[in-house]
Amino acid sequence: MQTLAQYLQTQSLNPALENLIFTLADTSKAISLAVRNGALAGVLGATEQENVQGETQKKLDIITNDMLKNALHDNLAVRGIASEEEDNIVEANSEGQYLVCFDPLDGSSNIDINSLVGTIFSTLSMQEKVPQGELSEQHFLQSGRKQIASGYMLYGPSTMMALTTGQGVQFFTLDHKTQEYLLTNEKVTITPDTSEFAINMSNQRFWEKPMQNYIDELLQGAIGPREKAFNMRWIAAMVGDVHRVLSRGGLFTYPTDHKNPNKPYKLRLMYEANPMAWLVEQAGGKASTGYENILDIQPSHIHQRVPVILGSSNEVDICLSHHQGGNQGDNGDELSDQVAPSLV
Ligand code: F6P
Ligand code: MN
Repeated sequence: MQTLAQYLQTQSLNPALENLIFTLADTSKAISLAVRNGALAGVLGATEQENVQGETQKKLDIITNDMLKNALHDNLAVRGIASEEEDNIVEANSEGQYLVCFDPLDGSSNIDINSLVGTIFSTLSMQEKVPQGELSEQHFLQSGRKQIASGYMLYGPSTMMALTTGQGVQFFTLDHKTQEYLLTNEKVTITPDTSEFAINMSNQRFWEKPMQNYIDELLQGAIGPREKAFNMRWIAAMVGDVHRVLSRGGLFTYPTDHKNPNKPYKLRLMYEANPMAWLVEQAGGKASTGYENILDIQPSHIHQRVPVILGSSNEVDICLSHHQGGNQGDNGDELSDQVAPSLV
């Protein structure tokens, strides 16, 4: 089996980018260890702090954020960092050519139940050279199409990395003995058809009509218009749900909802939706907001949220066909309904 280093050599990447991928991979090995040791390392539970998005930070959110931030800061190829757990962008090295956006611990509410979590990353190029102290959020606001290396690490029964540099999607599995990532799936492809979907059904009454109609058809099974039974899975960590979609197909969505009028979308564009959309497209699937391709969105700020529908191409098309021809402004139930507390 090829090691990550051997695989990257075959890709003729800029050596600085290759080095940056190693930094991310090496840091994920340390994160994997902290996650695996759980209570033994005293890393479980919440802190008193909230992130910029008003979500309570878990201890591991902060620990993993610091690990990635420090490691990337030490890499001379890194010009700046944007993280889910940092209010503002962080400036790194003046000579750096790359910008890294990351969610250090996606699905972190799963950590206290010993369930799936992961790290998601997206790398962009610095489009211009600016003096130290002059890096701004503006430099990060590039569409997902401009990504140059993106992926995730999944801390599950195995620690895995999914990576794309624009030449398909590869899965690597961490050999815990040698601490090497080994190439275990090359040119991952998503089956175009599926009978599996992933959505948080508890929000159903708050979705827009197109999504309500689409899911309603799936739930009718063999006696409905789709004439087949569908199964549902929900890991509550995007990284786990997208890994399943890449592995065996499916449709994953976190759609617009009207539960909280100030927060109609949950997933973040720059470090959740964009890297996952690129992976999915690179594996032959599709990713949309319902009305536009995720990778074409011009970001307006680093913590921007968007609706996400991604996965098996034919199934995404069927979901999108419900969104065509109006109805999009049509809300679900009234907002006064009681809602469960939101988890990160
Ligand atoms: O990062 C946000 C996130 O944790 C995703 O990883 C996941 O898909 C989603 O939120 C889970 O949302 P909910 O708590 O509504 O199930
Ligand atoms: Mn997340």
